[in-house]
Amino acid sequence: MQRTDYCGKFSAKDIGKKVAVFGWVHSRRDHGGVIFIDLRDREGLLQVVFQPEKKEIFAQAEKLRSEFVLKVVGTIRKRPAGTENPNLPTGEVEVVTEELEIINQCPGLPFEISDYTETSEEMRLKYRYLASRLNPGTFYALPQSPQLFKQIHMVAGFDKYFQMAKCFRDEDLRADRQPEFTQVDLEMSFVEEKDVMSVIEGLISGVFKNVLGKEIKTPFTRMPYAEAMLKYGSDKPDTRFDFKIVDFTEELKNCGFKVFKEAIEKGGVVRGLCVKGGEKFSRSEIDALTVFVGEFGAKGLAWMKITDKGPESNIVKFFSAQDLQTIQKKFISQTGDLLLFLADVPEVVAQGLGALRLKIGKQQNLIDKEKFEFLWVVDFPLLDWDKEDKKWVAMHHPFTSPKLEDISLLESSDNNTIKKARARAYDIVLNGVELGGGSIRIHQEKVQEKMFSVLNITKEDAKKKFGFLLDALSFGAPPHGGIALGLDRFCALLLGEESIREVITFPKTQKAVCPMSGAPDVVADKQLKELGIQVKSKMPPPATGPAPDRIAREK
Ligand code: AMO
Ligand code: AMP
Repeated sequence: MQRTDYCGKFSAKDIGKKVAVFGWVHSRRDHGGVIFIDLRDREGLLQVVFQPEKKEIFAQAEKLRSEFVLKVVGTIRKRPAGTENPNLPTGEVEVVTEELEIINQCPGLPFEISDYTETSEEMRLKYRYLASRLNPGTFYALPQSPQLFKQIHMVAGFDKYFQMAKCFRDEDLRADRQPEFTQVDLEMSFVEEKDVMSVIEGLISGVFKNVLGKEIKTPFTRMPYAEAMLKYGSDKPDTRFDFKIVDFTEELKNCGFKVFKEAIEKGGVVRGLCVKGGEKFSRSEIDALTVFVGEFGAKGLAWMKITDKGPESNIVKFFSAQDLQTIQKKFISQTGDLLLFLADVPEVVAQGLGALRLKIGKQQNLIDKEKFEFLWVVDFPLLDWDKEDKKWVAMHHPFTSPKLEDISLLESSDNNTIKKARARAYDIVLNGVELGGGSIRIHQEKVQEKMFSVLNITKEDAKKKFGFLLDALSFGAPPHGGIALGLDRFCALLLGEESIREVITFPKTQKAVCPMSGAPDVVADKQLKELGIQVKSKMPPPATGPAPDRIAREK
């Protein structure tokens, strides 16, 4: 969605240039057959002319109202003598429209932007985003997750936003998760996926150059989610080493091994890994791997060793010579290799083999620790089926736009059709760690309402929880998108640390406990009373107990 420049930036030096501009309709004037609009963005106003000879465009221009969001392609020309406006920096020129795209509409604002100062404070605060352009360069406090607030900045006409945002999340912790962490959070308007990606590629390669003195090649590889899950068993593949998963579902659907055949008949898959030189793995080592994949729900781990005499194992006898040959050929296996297989539903096989791939990769020293392998994972599914609550949940978040060509799939009543809808989401992955995630957002109220309805959020609930967002989207929201990078994860990776606890001054343990201060701890009843809070079930104090100095004082 490349703009040539901001509306307010054009002058006589641009006369004759063909340009593309984006902005909001500031005002519209109909002068005896010629329509003029002032198109506005953060840099100012630009006069746009619609001539009646261009019938189709002219008919569209007749429908334009204040705050509609437009893309205009046309040629800059000098305004006719006597019609210049010396009060505007762009006052000597105008654009003669050749293409017009109405990106979004606006039914009318709750108050005129020009009457802002006369509007009651209550109204002004309710619709604060409509006013921001009167306070350029100012920002608002973001009391919660910045996601919706950064989007509302875009509706307000901020062109680009970034913030080092403190985030607080209550989720199961791992080496790369903390309850309190920091995001490099950003959002931009009039962008597509590739624009956000290229900003991040520039940022990351700049940081690598300045911090580590390393040149990073851009653009980064893009890999569809389906390919990541199939070949790496993960939506954040570690591509520093090859060792890919190989699929045998088609080849083995009629094989003689019941475990495989029945799994495929039930809609499952059979996939495997070929461990180079793995023939030396002992039975107890293979048993340990079987226990390991069991943690991901796998019901067993089938294996074959390729010896001088051909494939050997407890299950080789169930396969025809032809099947055995097909397997070895597709794996490109050699004497001395160990072949491992899982048969199950795709999710279990991907998780089990994905984890096994990493475990064996580390064990066998297949990973080059000096390497930095970046990757964009794209084409994520829009939705995920929540088996427990039997409903769709958003894979990224409910404000992520479906791919435009997939929006119609959401109208279906068939879950298998809905499942196919893909999101305009992207994750950046470094060495198998999700460094950041983002998306192009929904900027049309109708699409957002549709998304809420697929997610089983009732109209009343949507209005109560996200009414301010739906309101904002109705006031001429521009197309927008962004991303958030995990700053702690980025720092840990730059330093070659395994855990983000190494780069946070006072991290919490895996149980979300701070051993130093003893937090979290119970609060005295008196304090709760002051705050008007009642605690129904008191958890016992954390395992580490209170801090040592407090023990002393309390004694
Ligand atoms: P998401 O939830 O994917 O997206 O988070 C973005 C990035 O933040 C980091 N991160 C964490 N780091 C440490 N501990 C945690 N508990 C934790 N959770 C997340 C990760 C992750 O990739 N609002 C969207 C972004 C957007 O759409 O623009 C969001 O927060 O590196
Ligand atoms: P069984 O028929 O249960 O004795 O299993 C024979 C072999 O197949 C054992 O090595 C099991 O570990 C393995 N196996 C069982 N279920 C699966 C499965 N779902 N996927 C892969 N291997 C399996």
